[in-house]
Amino acid sequence: MGAAAWDDGRKKNRGLTRGRSLLFSTLQGWKQAAACNPRVVMSWAAVMLLLLYLLSGRHRSRHAQEALQRNRAQSVAATLAGKVAELNLGQYDLELLKLAVRHAINPAEAASHLREIQIADSTAEFGSLMGKVQGIVWDLTHAQATVECIWDPTLHPGSLGKGKMGNTERYLVAANMHNNEEVLPHFILQLIHLFAVLPPETAFLSIYESGSKDSTGAWLEVLQHLLAAMHIPHRIVIGGSLTRAKDQARIDFLAQARNRALEPLWLNSSMATSTSLLLPHDPEVTDRKLTAWGLPGGRAKSSKPMWPADRIVFLNDVYFCARDTIRLLQHDGDMVCGLDFDRPKLEEMPGEFQRNRFAEDMRRMWAPRWLGYQLSRVAPLFFRWRGSPSVNAAFKAESDMEFYDIWVARDSDGNLFEKHAPYVTDPYSLDRVARGLPFPVKCCWNGMVILSSGPFLRHGTRIRGHEKGECAASECTLLCNDFQRLGFSRIIVDPSVRLAYTHRDARDVHSARFVKGIRLTDWADVQAAPPIDWSLTPHRPYAKCCGLPEGHDMIDFDKDCKWDNFMTPNFTSIALRARTQRAHSMEARPAPSQQQAAGSQQQAPGREEWPTLRGERLLSTRNGS
Ligand SMILES: *[C@@H]1O[C@H](CO)[C@@H](O)[C@H](O)[C@H]1NC(C)=O
Ligand SMILES: *[C@@H]1O[C@H](CO)[C@@H](O)[C@H](O)[C@H]1NC(C)=O
Repeated sequence: MGAAAWDDGRKKNRGLTRGRSLLFSTLQGWKQAAACNPRVVMSWAAVMLLLLYLLSGRHRSRHAQEALQRNRAQSVAATLAGKVAELNLGQYDLELLKLAVRHAINPAEAASHLREIQIADSTAEFGSLMGKVQGIVWDLTHAQATVECIWDPTLHPGSLGKGKMGNTERYLVAANMHNNEEVLPHFILQLIHLFAVLPPETAFLSIYESGSKDSTGAWLEVLQHLLAAMHIPHRIVIGGSLTRAKDQARIDFLAQARNRALEPLWLNSSMATSTSLLLPHDPEVTDRKLTAWGLPGGRAKSSKPMWPADRIVFLNDVYFCARDTIRLLQHDGDMVCGLDFDRPKLEEMPGEFQRNRFAEDMRRMWAPRWLGYQLSRVAPLFFRWRGSPSVNAAFKAESDMEFYDIWVARDSDGNLFEKHAPYVTDPYSLDRVARGLPFPVKCCWNGMVILSSGPFLRHGTRIRGHEKGECAASECTLLCNDFQRLGFSRIIVDPSVRLAYTHRDARDVHSARFVKGIRLTDWADVQAAPPIDWSLTPHRPYAKCCGLPEGHDMIDFDKDCKWDNFMTPNFTSIALRARTQRAHSMEARPAPSQQQAAGSQQQAPGREEWPTLRGERLLSTRNGS
């Protein structure tokens, strides 16, 4: 997932250097071992060499298999896209269709509408519609493993779509995609469930995809057909032109990609209710495909933004549950997040731990422990073992989950989150985390976040990289700071909302066995407990900021984190000024040079510079490895 290809090269290099140094130290180990019993050593070495040979054969065929699987995934997605289009779900009554979607994806949630379903159920029309929708859901769940989301019966989506002043509240659901075929079938199911639950005409979906080499584009077409049938306004860019320029800072690039997904908030809508339109003023002229499904009731006017939502749901490429998005939307905050988790990788564990585990595995293959331990110095053998998917899967299966997004999340004291319980430091939050209640923080993102649109629409803020002299933090950290400076400072984490990045982790993320120290609550528990008392949270404007050293893509958490006053200087106003100036100079630039720029961009194809949106590849290796 994410930028796996991007990461591979570096991993390999690290492996090679470590392999070399291991080879040198091997000599000494062998001397000791041979002194014990040279014959045993020789015969075990022969066995191991044979093993090595067999393993490398398996490895080769795995590559061929992977290529085959890639083609298969592509055609599965493309076939399903065609099938959904052919079913012509748009012919059905809209309410009936949404009911069928809810019932097919999450029967427990739909059971809250038992009466409607019973009435609808009696009609032959609903029967045939249900059959079609269930077929699509079956295809999605069998294309890639999806995770079942258990409905929280105490959660009542009835309050959604209603603002505080009795007005309609509108949402923009935004996401960036890049090589995400693994998560997309799950993602699509949960998205359409979410849109089936949200009141009509309250939500818009915006997805910006670029640079994918897998079936991501075809999956997005499946989604696009489903949304069109459900009359959900959306803008999905497939094959976007955005690539990371040679000298562009990584965070600047990520910020740009996120802003593309947010564009419906501020771009003028000049399209009618049809598909495949390019917006005339859209910078995306080189995009392969832009699908847009018009706004409800044809209310779109070209001078108005497409979808000036009140709140934004920003999703990373995560396994999420519609239930959890709905839960986050119940909170009254300027920025509301869940918690994201992953598991440690074997290669990140301390060297001694790895060697012992290797010896343990060899013992199971009847090699004595001392010999297994010595063999762990044979670099090719050791790295072959460590790279094996089954070894890694076994290690992950028994590891506890760790909190993931430590680069961005800051507790209300301004400290980094801990990877393990109790996660935070200030006493007020400690208690609430343990009880599974929402707690105040200085910053979060954590895979799924609800943002107030105020800073974007009322103040012209954009997601951005750091200004000169500012801490070189993540674009998400800088957004937290911008929010606070503009007075949007109620930032909340709900610890019962949990996200994961792989199918395996998503299955375990709600289990008390793997996530320790947080009680899992349902919505009724939260409502019964006292709400956040903001007067009890520390108000000092300080947080630890971990700046990315120039030219680096990794943070060293022991060296790069410093206390930072995020209120002064006011970099928000500096960034706003810089943006206005850039906009002016863009306008002043003559048209031909713009075309030239676009042309030169096209001359550099094949360059893959799309780092992942998650922080993972930025995290330093764990202590001791
Ligand atoms: C969008 O409409 C506004 C208001 O009429 C106008 O000021 C602005 O220039 C338009 N923007 C674009 C990109 O067309
Ligand atoms: C920072 O600047 C922005 C934009 O000029 C302004 O709205 C905001 O109030 C300032 N915040 C602080 C804390 O000075």
